[in-house]
Amino acid sequence: MSGVLAGRTALVTGASSGIGRAIALRLAEAGAEVVAADVTEAVVEGGAPVAGPLAALSPASRFALLDVRDEAATQALVADIAARSGRLDVLVTSAMVPGGRGLPDTDAAEWERVTGVNLRGVYVSLRAALRQMLAQAPVAGERGRIVNIGSQHGMVAAPGSFAYGVSKAAVLQMTRQIAADHAAEGIVCNAVSPGKILTGKTGPAVSEAVLEYSRARTPMPRLGAPRDVAEAVLFLASPQTGFVNGHNLLVDGGWMAA
Ligand SMILES: NC(=O)c1ccc[n+]([C@@H]2O[C@H](COP(=O)([O-])OP(=O)(O)OC[C@H]3O[C@@H](n4cnc5c(N)ncnc54)[C@H](O)[C@@H]3O)[C@@H](O)[C@H]2O)c1
Repeated sequence: MSGVLAGRTALVTGASSGIGRAIALRLAEAGAEVVAADVTEAVVEGGAPVAGPLAALSPASRFALLDVRDEAATQALVADIAARSGRLDVLVTSAMVPGGRGLPDTDAAEWERVTGVNLRGVYVSLRAALRQMLAQAPVAGERGRIVNIGSQHGMVAAPGSFAYGVSKAAVLQMTRQIAADHAAEGIVCNAVSPGKILTGKTGPAVSEAVLEYSRARTPMPRLGAPRDVAEAVLFLASPQTGFVNGHNLLVDGGWMAA
């Protein structure tokens, strides 16, 4: 398979829908063997499950049912990838559940619901992948690459979404932590933080109030598309990005600059 990721194996979590789906398809288009993992095959924005278009781009790629809150299942999936493909070269953590409550309404159950996927689920994915990457031989000086999906709302407050914002801030810190702790071992870890991305989903994420707020905060005259984020992830997943580590690449139309 030709492409910048030819011969590489990638695991993308939250890959059935939205941004994760676009990332999985983009990495497959770039030649990677992609495992698109998600807790469901159902597509949030509607349409066909990711498995079909994924296999059309890269025949060895596949969907895997995975709940990132399940540590044993996540470790088993990583082990399965390593057994089938020899190694895991790239991890992208995109799985998330939305959370839209302020602190007074964030009871323990809501905190657990949101952070269980968006924070603990990322930690579980990172640990499983990192342990595999550290155990494999370096290729051109690298054992593996990680791209975490953060958010502009991990850098400034997520309005009324306490657990979500806290989780995303933690994801950015996990990125820096891994980059610093494991660079010497050949691990490259970066983050991509989207601004407002229109994935096609309906509901609170695209309420008129949210869209108005997002447009007011975004200097560019449009909001983002999943492909915008996927291109940035490909950049950071590519071995051509030789000396970028611990970085948080904003794909936000200038939101955080204004
Ligand atoms: N859409 C935006 O405007 C925006 C902005 C900033 C950051 N982000 C980030 O981008 C990423 C993707 O967001 P999206 O808008 O595409 O979301 P989405 O809701 O469209 O997709 C999230 C996916 O995660 C999966 N998922 C949920 N719980 C899971 C679990 N326990 N295990 C495995 N998979 C699980 C869902 O099934 C879904 O397919 C998230 O990390 C989100 O925080 C999105």
